[in-house]
Amino acid sequence: MASRLEAVYDWFDDRLDVDDASDFAGKAFPAEDSYLLGEVALFCFVVLVSTGVFLAFFYEPSTTAVEYEGSVARYQGQEMPAAFTSVLNITYDVPFGMLLRRMHHWAAHLFVASIALHMLRVFFTGAYRNPREPNWVVGTGLAGLSMFAAYTGYALPYDEFASTAVGIGYNVAGSIPLVGDPLAAIVFGGSFPTSATIPRFFFMHVFLIPAAIAGLIAVHMAILIRQKHTEAERDGDVVPPGSSRPAADGAGVDAAGTGTEVADGGRAGIARDDDSIVIGLPAFPNQAAVSAVVFFLTMAVLSLLAGFLPVHNIAAYGPNDPASTPSLIMPDWFLMWGYGFLKVVPSWMSVDVLGVHISSEFIGGLLLPGLVFAGVAVWPFIDRAEEPEHFSLNPLDRPPQTAVGIAAMTFVMVASIAGMDVLVAEILHTSTAELRPYLTAALVVVPVAAGTITYAVLGGFGDDDSDDASRSDGGEGDHD
Ligand code: HEM
Repeated sequence: MASRLEAVYDWFDDRLDVDDASDFAGKAFPAEDSYLLGEVALFCFVVLVSTGVFLAFFYEPSTTAVEYEGSVARYQGQEMPAAFTSVLNITYDVPFGMLLRRMHHWAAHLFVASIALHMLRVFFTGAYRNPREPNWVVGTGLAGLSMFAAYTGYALPYDEFASTAVGIGYNVAGSIPLVGDPLAAIVFGGSFPTSATIPRFFFMHVFLIPAAIAGLIAVHMAILIRQKHTEAERDGDVVPPGSSRPAADGAGVDAAGTGTEVADGGRAGIARDDDSIVIGLPAFPNQAAVSAVVFFLTMAVLSLLAGFLPVHNIAAYGPNDPASTPSLIMPDWFLMWGYGFLKVVPSWMSVDVLGVHISSEFIGGLLLPGLVFAGVAVWPFIDRAEEPEHFSLNPLDRPPQTAVGIAAMTFVMVASIAGMDVLVAEILHTSTAELRPYLTAALVVVPVAAGTITYAVLGGFGDDDSDDASRSDGGEGDHD
């Protein structure tokens, strides 16, 4: 029996180099909880694709008027766009339709949230530095695509609220100097909303963008496997389980019970500052078990959210009505900062340069968000490390970088509050016109203040101890 199994193994090994794959089974995953955020994002993507496939069986990407025959009494017998009626059907008449629609919705939110948190973990621990800059840039692309995925999905039910919000995107796209009008016509299928908009968005939402995300995730993972994870600084030299030999340069600490993986099969110790090897759980079976737990926890959270929290109530909004505009329009929380830029950039900022019109809508809606993304993408080349760095850093030991990170987070938060200016004005019993200059000023002042305070609290002004400490810990490496 055993020899038959070996023969089968050899057959596959000849063709697929399975031995190489079993090397991967020994790849080490540092046992850090915050390193699981990327996995949460990954599992959300899996849930998004699987629930999306279910929804696509019942969704009709068309604005052709059809008679509604479903169970929402208010609309029975009415002629409404097929896209809208099909989402009503999914929600109220298709078995498990409401649950899976809600799961798709909450998975989209958790996807973006986990990407943002994952990105913050990578940022604050300096894991973007040499040699991981390419993966940081790929990640930035993934963050942008995840937002486009959500935006295009938002339009699909073709209800009054969503189509008005999506129309804002049409105006922003049209505001791009020189190429705006043709580009908006290509993406939106003519001047929004036309009968071509929904089929085009459907194609982008279910195929183009997920395929691009899947491709980039594959590149992201391939780079990760090739480069290995960063690892938190070790407390001391490490003696692998079952070995009594200390590390070459000193007494070791016992790593028994951590599933330590070492390069030479577990015999020799590893010096504290040896970054040629990662200490952590082997991919199989230990990390696979942890990942399975993360997967089921992600599913459990999404099921709970879907079970208890309703999503975008299209029956209440009704089908798209070109003749009316809902009183309060706001995008989802993760697009709110971009909407905030649109609100705070004053119309007098529109200029004509060499006969080309640069509108305030373009500045707020595309230029500023574009600059934020560009800033994120080039950051590892600003905070450059000349030599490869494989240990992650403590954010408390890096006042400048941590201050920049806190300032950037505050900037996005203030911009998001500006996006909710109608609500803020209501709470403060004032008008949005009166509020706006304050929001514009806050967008500059609050992040600068937050960054400066962070820098001061971490000893950036004059306290050299923290810097020296991190360097002597072997973490900081050579920086420009
Ligand atoms: C679809 C979105 C994404 C998925 C599924 C994903 C997945 C992952 C996973 C599973 C890991 C390994 C475990 C971990 O460190 O969490 C990882 C590492 C990494 N990710 Fe992402 N990620 C995504 C987006 C991003 C973004 C937006 C950035 C930054 C802009 C980024 C930058 C990185 C870097 C630099 C590493 C290596 C970190 C290290 O070695 O410590 N990723 N990613």
